[in-house]
Formats: sequence, C-alpha cells, structure tokens
Amino acid sequence: MRSRPFILLLLGLLALPACERPAPVDTPLNLAVPLGLPPLPVPPENPLTQARIDLGRTLFMDRRLSHNNTLSCAMCHVPEQGFTSNELGTAIGLEGQSIRRNSPTIYNVAYVEQLFHDGREFSLENQAWGPLLAGNEMANPSIGYVVEKIKALPEYAGRFEQAFGGRGPDVQTIGQALAAYQRTLVSANSRFDRWRYGKDADALAAEERTGFRLFAGKAGCSACHSVDERHALFSDNRFHNTGIGFANSMGLPKKHRVQLAPGVFVEVEDKALASFEPPQPDVGRYEVTLDPADSWAYRTPSLRNVALTAPYMHDGSLATLEEVIEFYDRGGIDNPQKSPLLRPLGLAPEEKRALAAFLKSLTGDNVEKRVAEARAAQPGEMPPEKDPASAYRRSY
Ligand code: HEC
Ligand code: HEC
Repeated sequence: MRSRPFILLLLGLLALPACERPAPVDTPLNLAVPLGLPPLPVPPENPLTQARIDLGRTLFMDRRLSHNNTLSCAMCHVPEQGFTSNELGTAIGLEGQSIRRNSPTIYNVAYVEQLFHDGREFSLENQAWGPLLAGNEMANPSIGYVVEKIKALPEYAGRFEQAFGGRGPDVQTIGQALAAYQRTLVSANSRFDRWRYGKDADALAAEERTGFRLFAGKAGCSACHSVDERHALFSDNRFHNTGIGFANSMGLPKKHRVQLAPGVFVEVEDKALASFEPPQPDVGRYEVTLDPADSWAYRTPSLRNVALTAPYMHDGSLATLEEVIEFYDRGGIDNPQKSPLLRPLGLAPEEKRALAAFLKSLTGDNVEKRVAEARAAQPGEMPPEKDPASAYRRSY
C-alpha cells in the first residue's frame, strides 16, 4: 500500500519524456476542429501530417510556383484578406490577365464537396493543378516544368522526401502537400458558434439574434446556407441560380464602381468597359453537367468569415453585405431557371440591419493565427539557377 505513491511517481517520470517529445513529423495528426464545424473530412490516401502541412504552406506562399516567379496562390487567396482578394471583383492572373470569376475564400475548404464556383473539380489534391497550369493564372507550361522547377529550388531539398516516405516532388505529391495545408484552414468558434453550440447566451447581441431568426425563418436563407443541430457549414454544397449569371450573360445593364484615385469613384456601365475588355462567357454549372437546367447555377458558398471576404458572388459584383441583402430582398434576378427558393422578402430596414449584424458575427476566432502562420512560411524568392526547361536531361 505504502509503495503506491512511489510507483505512480515512477510511472509519471517514465511517461514524461514521451509526452515532451513532439510526434514525428510524418505521424498522421488528428486535427481538433473548432466549435461549430463537423469532423474534418480527410482522404485516407493523404493523411494530415505536420511535414505535409508545413510543406504545403510554403508552396502556397511561393511566388516561384508561377511561370515568371511573380504570383503565388496567396496573392489571390490573400491571408490578410480572408484568403480571398478584397480589392478585386474578379481575379487578375499572370501579367495582368483577367479571370472571369471572383477568388473564393480557402477557409473551411476541406468541407467543400465539389470545388470551384461551378463544382468542376472533386479533390483539393487535383484542384491545385488548375491555377498552376491555367494560362491566365500561374501559367506554367506543363506539369513536368513545375516538378523540375521545384526540384531545382534549394528550399525544398529533402522536404518532399521527408513528407512522402522518400518520394520527391511529382504531380501527386505537390497536389497532396497543397491540399494538406488548405485542409487545415478550418475557422469557426465565432460568436455565433459560442451562442448556438457553446450555449453562451451572451455571445450574441439582441440584434444579431434577431438576424439569425430571420436568416433561419422569414428570409429563408438557411434553405441553402444550411445550419444543422450540432454544426453549421452555411452551405448545402449544391448549385442554385440566383440570377446574377443570367443577368451577365444576357447583358442586362450593370454599373461598376471604379476607383480612379484613393477615395475617388466613378460609375461605369458595362458597355463602356467592354471596349477595354470583352466579357468572358460564363454559364456556371451547365459547363460541367451540360444540362440546360443547370444554366447560371453556382455553388452555395459558406458564409463563415463572410465579413472578411468581400466582394461577393461568383463575379464579385456585390461589394458589401448590405448590397447582398438588398439583392435577396428583391428576390434575386428573375429568369426562367431562377431557384424557386428565392422570392421578394419585404424586409423592413431594421430587419435588413439585423441580418447584416448576424452575418458579421460569423468570423472565426483563429483568423490572426492563420495569417501569422502563413506569413511565417514565406519562402525566399531566388529563382532556380538554371531554367528547368534548359537544365532538364532525362536520367534513365
Ligand atoms: C490569379 C488568381 C489565383 C491564383 C494565383 C490562385 N487562385 Fe485559387 N482561385 C482563384 C479563382 C478566381 C477561383 C475560382 C475559379 C472558378 O470557380 O472557376 C479559385 C478557386 C480556388 C479553389 C476552390 C475553392 C472553392 O471554394 O471551390 C481552391 C481550393 C484554390 N483556388 C486554391 C488555390 C491554390 C492551391 C493555388 C496555388 C497553386 C491557387 N488557388 C492560385 C484565383 C486564384
Ligand atoms: C436558393 C438558395 C439560396 C438562398 C435561399 C440564399 N442563398 Fe445566398 N447564395 C446562394 C448561392 C448559390 C450563392 C452564390 C451565388 C453566386 O456565386 O453567384 C450565394 C451567395 C451568398 C453570399 C455571398 C457569399 C460570397 O462569399 O460570395 C451571401 C453573403 C449570401 N448568399 C447570403 C444570403 C442571405 C443573407 C440569404 C437570405 C436572405 C441567402 N443568402 C439566401 C444560395 C442561396
């Protein structure tokens, strides 16, 4: 009996070094998700390990992943701007080329079942090759070019091998590293989550609670931006036609607010802009399914961190949450395939304010940490000594 404390002490001492030793970088991690999110979906063939996450973060921040070493993933998905671009309605790629759509946020992208606004890609592992190869984004000439370039950069020496059981950079491991990092960009435990799922009655102000009641009730928002009993993604991961894509395709008049100098704005009509740059066609989900019923449908985006991710919609055409609420209050834009879930709402001014206040309560509590981690991973900028295209010699 008397020896029990001694035995416990001995066991404690034996356990101590094991606790202090950090897990090896290639052990699969079980990432705890913040309050308000469901368990993190991780594909078994790409387990989350510290080595993969850290490597993916460095790649995400690296401007040398673009053909002329100027553009990183993080320059369109800017960490400080909610991992999107606040200044741009539609994205701008290599050498100022325009892209027809708005950069979506990467926060909580692990939960997106079909990626891109039209859902044309199915895994983060494959998705990364879209921007890497698109001529108007990072504009690399080929997969092999990217692989050889990364092999030639000293910062990556040994890191792929460490993360992928001896495998170097290749089409799969580059996608897997980027995917592993992006999957960890979970963000929740917002004031809304603490109120609804943490049972903290004071976490939301009265106006924000009214806003949530409208969101889930009279305004009908949660029909698509789903909120479940135990967690909320604020997306049904499905595709709906709200009328914005239709209006663009049919050339319905649209005004753009253009900034000429700091604080100096002018309103410009589409017609005037078309002389600089012809509009690019965009039929939304139809481009993926070829089903006319899917014309101008886009994926319901999550609304988590939505206060940080302006401008809004697939074309960035709505600048503020107040404009988004006005858009829904009018019932979207009429067209033959408009979602039957959208109708004029007749919201009073104080109801619109409450709805906006609620949306602004959805900012996760770990945003600053995510930004700091991303910036700390910024690699050097020295391009490889030799152009991969001229340095390459087949070695078998
Ligand atoms: C030039 C700007 C730009 C660059 C650079 C860029 N992206 Fe994107 N990203 C976009 C745009 C625009 C979309 C939406 C395109 C669409 O829906 O057709 C997008 C979509 C995505 C999505 C899908 C998100 C969702 O909700 O469906 C992911 C993930 C993503 N990008 C990751 C990356 C990664 C990883 C890199 C670097 C390898 C990268 N992006 C580089 C602009 C960019
Ligand atoms: C019929 C389904 C549906 C309903 C109902 C709905 N939404 Fe949406 N919401 C969408 C889709 C789809 C998009 C993306 C549209 C696009 O990209 O053009 C979207 C986009 C948004 C965005 C922009 C997010 C971003 O990151 O760009 C906000 C904010 C938003 N909705 C809020 C609301 C609010 C508030 C309501 C209720 C008044 C509501 N939604 C009702 C489907 C819906």
